[in-house]
Amino acid sequence: MIIAIDGPAGTGKSTIAKMLAEKLNITFLNSGGFYRTLTMAVLDAGVDYKDEKATLEFCKKQKIEYTKEGHFILNGTDVTAHLHDDRITANTSQVSAIVEIRHLVNDLMREITKSLSIVCEGRDMTTVVFPNAEVKVYLDASAEVRAQRRFDQGVSDMTFEEIKAAIEKRDEMDKNKKEGSLKIAKDALYIDTSNLTIDNVCAIIEKQIS
Ligand code: DC
Repeated sequence: MIIAIDGPAGTGKSTIAKMLAEKLNITFLNSGGFYRTLTMAVLDAGVDYKDEKATLEFCKKQKIEYTKEGHFILNGTDVTAHLHDDRITANTSQVSAIVEIRHLVNDLMREITKSLSIVCEGRDMTTVVFPNAEVKVYLDASAEVRAQRRFDQGVSDMTFEEIKAAIEKRDEMDKNKKEGSLKIAKDALYIDTSNLTIDNVCAIIEKQIS
């Protein structure tokens, strides 16, 4: 079974997908983490991602492993704890906009999850990567609410206003990608999470599964 969840940053996708995967005892797939891991590799190596060809060639040589616990191993090192650093968050949309890099990541994710039951989340899980998913959900919330959630997580050094502006910039980039742009799939259940708790959202999705 594939449960696919898409939506913009700060809608609770990862927390919800992880909780559902634990409850159902199936694999959690965090697609943004693959793009974040590649972005870290690109930045650390000083590769200029505006040079798409060079970036793709570099990314092809990186070894990414994804553990059962949802950790990302880049060339043998567990990088999970640093994937939400501001410098990675600020540059991942640009790296993930490179079409060939999307194909690389999509192939890797499909390979890792083939013959597994999964709960996956991202921007194009319901539309591009797993269009035949049995359950499709689109999570949404206002930019104000999403920025407040990120601010409350305390993982960023930015002010609330800076976080809100960064979220709006990422929304814009994520919705305008050549491929894999953020869209609401026709057959997805749309949930506005602005006034819902994580448990409320999980309960709505669980109802959809049963
Ligand atoms: O979900 P996240 O915030 O960890 O995603 C990080 C970035 O990766 C985000 O800017 C959009 C991009 N992304 C994407 O393009 N496609 C996905 N399926 C998941 C994430």
